[in-house]
Amino acid sequence: MALERTLSIIKPDAVAKNVIGQIYSRFEAAGLKIVAAKMVHLSRREAETFYAVHRERPFFKDLVDFMVSGPVMVQVLEGENAIAKNRELMGATDPKKAAPGTIRADFADSIDANAVHGSDGPDTAAAEIAFFFPGMAIYSR
Ligand code: PPS
Repeated sequence: MALERTLSIIKPDAVAKNVIGQIYSRFEAAGLKIVAAKMVHLSRREAETFYAVHRERPFFKDLVDFMVSGPVMVQVLEGENAIAKNRELMGATDPKKAAPGTIRADFADSIDANAVHGSDGPDTAAAEIAFFFPGMAIYSR
């Protein structure tokens, strides 16, 4: 299986709950290595650009409002099958539907404040990594 990279965001609700370390432990236990990381407080323009694909969806404003409500922790995860593995760890978008033991089941409060973001495919992962870490060193194994 191929070594992949994916973009992960720990959202403002999970940062405020002080569970960055607990979420990082789950990545590590699943064999995902953190190869780049930074904490940022997104501007509205940055959040709108990042989520531009959802611009026409009814929840777009709520999503942007939430993502600019506090700092987020952004990381690149690397590992075998990293994109799917991260999404498995995250659980379903709506925490009420997320499988027990997933990050969203354990740390998210609602579909708006759902703790984490993860790239949904190889093209998205490449674009999202470039968005947050343009030209930056990524410390691969
Ligand atoms: S996904 O991850 O793209 O398959 O999920 P999707 O359901 O298409 O949702 C896209 C992102 O929008 C967020 N979302 C919402 N935000 C606020 N309110 C509502 N109702 C809502 N529904 C979906 C969802 O968490 C996804 O954000 P990210 O950051 O990609 O997980």
